[in-house]
Amino acid sequence: MPETVTASVGSRKLQMDESGRLGRRGFLKGTLAAGSALATVPAWLATSEAQVPAGKKLRVGYIGCGSVSHAYLPGLAEADFIELVSACDIVVERAQKAAQQHKIPNVFPNIDAMLGGPKFDLLVNTTSMPSHYPVNKKALEAGCNVWSEKPMALEVKDAHELLELAKKNGVQIWAAPTCVTSPQFRFMSDMIQSGRIGRATAGHGTYGHEGPTWSAWFYEKGGGSLYDLGVYNVTTLTGLLGPVKEVMGMTAVMNKTRKVDDKGEVTVTADENTMLIMHHGNGVFSHVQTGFVYFEPERAPSRERQLYTVDIMGTEGSLHVQGWDWSPATVDVATRGHSILQPQCREKWPYEWVGGARYVASCLLTGRKSLITAEHGLHVLEVMNACHESQRTGRRIAVESTFKWPIFG
Ligand SMILES: NC(=O)c1ccc[n+]([C@@H]2O[C@H](COP(=O)([O-])OP(=O)(O)OC[C@H]3O[C@@H](n4cnc5c(N)ncnc54)[C@H](O)[C@@H]3O)[C@@H](O)[C@H]2O)c1
Repeated sequence: MPETVTASVGSRKLQMDESGRLGRRGFLKGTLAAGSALATVPAWLATSEAQVPAGKKLRVGYIGCGSVSHAYLPGLAEADFIELVSACDIVVERAQKAAQQHKIPNVFPNIDAMLGGPKFDLLVNTTSMPSHYPVNKKALEAGCNVWSEKPMALEVKDAHELLELAKKNGVQIWAAPTCVTSPQFRFMSDMIQSGRIGRATAGHGTYGHEGPTWSAWFYEKGGGSLYDLGVYNVTTLTGLLGPVKEVMGMTAVMNKTRKVDDKGEVTVTADENTMLIMHHGNGVFSHVQTGFVYFEPERAPSRERQLYTVDIMGTEGSLHVQGWDWSPATVDVATRGHSILQPQCREKWPYEWVGGARYVASCLLTGRKSLITAEHGLHVLEVMNACHESQRTGRRIAVESTFKWPIFG
């Protein structure tokens, strides 16, 4: 059974603001305080944001004010337990614009200047992937906690260094994605761990689109479809089926050049089409297909998407995620005796794919353990790099790192 607490919950109807985002704290306050019907609320939900003592604030520095910052910053700015202290981007006009929009008092053109300015407790790093490691390292050295977009570093040895640095300085580092905090992930994990689908034997994940159009780095060394997109499925499948022991993979560049907004025509050197096979031990396999070369007609209305993007097969049943694992809609379930797929777990809340920084901020303020862990992020990086090594060498690659699994329990 999952760890739960009982709380009074009124309507579980979920509300979105006009930008389509869900107001987590408002929802929690409303549902946990109000009400009639008794419902069971997972402890990790009831004890994250809703448990932050009134008036307590975490100071946050934000670096990398590009595309994804437009999705991150509103959620951080509206959280009453977060104080946005500084904004930073090497294209300083972007940081200035973000600061203006979200009333951030200090603007910096690089990480050194930012760390030399007003102090903050948590750095939120949404710079380009090749910048993650050097920026994360400087922040940890300065004694800041770090929420990093994925991956936290490009090399496994660098990720180990970051984890050690964090430990040495008494701070923490976490990397996106946030998939393991979704209700659908929890539902699937419970189905597997309780034996409801028998023995889980295999998994499949697919995530791709036509490729980003705004920045060149996606197509250069340190970019690629696996780090940018496949990482979600690798996180979900390792989270559900356990740490990976060995990997085989193939990657391909499909276009000699691409046109992007910031640099015009660029030569493509990073993977655009990737196939990754994982062995989770004891004969349990999963695979991830990901690419920047996929037609994707249903991209925008991801929650309404009906195609399955993650499948888990067991000896007594199967689970199929409608919507993306980073924005899941339902988990459709078939079990022996009930073999027509039934949509289950329509719960949309508490989960946001850009909610990770907010989530770890609440963990820092409450002392709660995060479901997202640095060790899992490092393991996912090692699996992805093993895929690249398998492509280079034509060999099956052993994976050494591991993480606490199952995630719940
Ligand atoms: N764009 C999305 O929809 C999306 C979604 C999920 C995750 N992500 C992840 O977010 C990260 C950023 O993606 P993006 O699409 O916003 O990229 P982007 O290129 O639009 O933005 C990156 C920003 O970081 C800045 N930057 C780069 N190096 C820096 C450094 N050393 N110091 C300060 N600023 C620096 C760039 O100038 C740019 O403004 C990536 O890890 C990506 O995988 C993006």
